[in-house]
Amino acid sequence: MPARRVSVAHAEPMLDDATSITELREAAKGCRRCPLWREATQTVFGEGPDDARVVFVGEQPGDQEDLTGKPFVGPAGKVFDIILDDAGIDRQKVYVTNAVKHFKFEPRGKRRIHSKPNAGEIQACRWWIDKEFELIRPDLAVALGATAAQSLLGKATPVMKMRGQVIEREDGLRVFVTIHPSFILRIREPADKEAERERFLRDMRKVKRLMAA
Ligand code: URA
Ligand code: SF4
Repeated sequence: MPARRVSVAHAEPMLDDATSITELREAAKGCRRCPLWREATQTVFGEGPDDARVVFVGEQPGDQEDLTGKPFVGPAGKVFDIILDDAGIDRQKVYVTNAVKHFKFEPRGKRRIHSKPNAGEIQACRWWIDKEFELIRPDLAVALGATAAQSLLGKATPVMKMRGQVIEREDGLRVFVTIHPSFILRIREPADKEAERERFLRDMRKVKRLMAA
């Protein structure tokens, strides 16, 4: 058996033959397309069935995702799980991924503080998200926040103005735009937090209806 071909520029196996998400995830472990792999623990790839009808796209892994290698398992993931469940969406049946697949952070003592990925990093990581969409071919993509919207739509998108709307891409993919669940976590005032939680739940109910359509 010949060894898997490894390209010189990147330590990832050639992808022409990636016929499943499992193979793609394996290939992404060695990605060096932008500098973010250097400080992070591991590539956090998308998770969910290959034939999911909807793909949720977040920003990038956080501290806990970086350590476990799984998307949306930290505080934002908990909020996301509860609201998906309230909307009647089964997380096991959807595919969940991130626009950028390595954790970008600033060290602050022992803590690692989330730092926003820039346009170049989002663009570099589109290599992977485009391939995830090519393999899964879902009916709907959900952009959770501005980074995901920028990745999916290829341009800066005002999320607050566009939330709840479906934008059809040139390739026919429908993209539903909403906020990132961590936005709810950051609101301090309880009444405002609850109101935002309700708005996000309404958005998820819309997604549920769009999934059925
Ligand atoms: N925030 C994200 O955007 N993605 C994760 O996986 C976790 C937190
Ligand atoms: Fe590759 Fe994306 Fe990681 Fe950059 S963030 S090294 S493009 S997987």
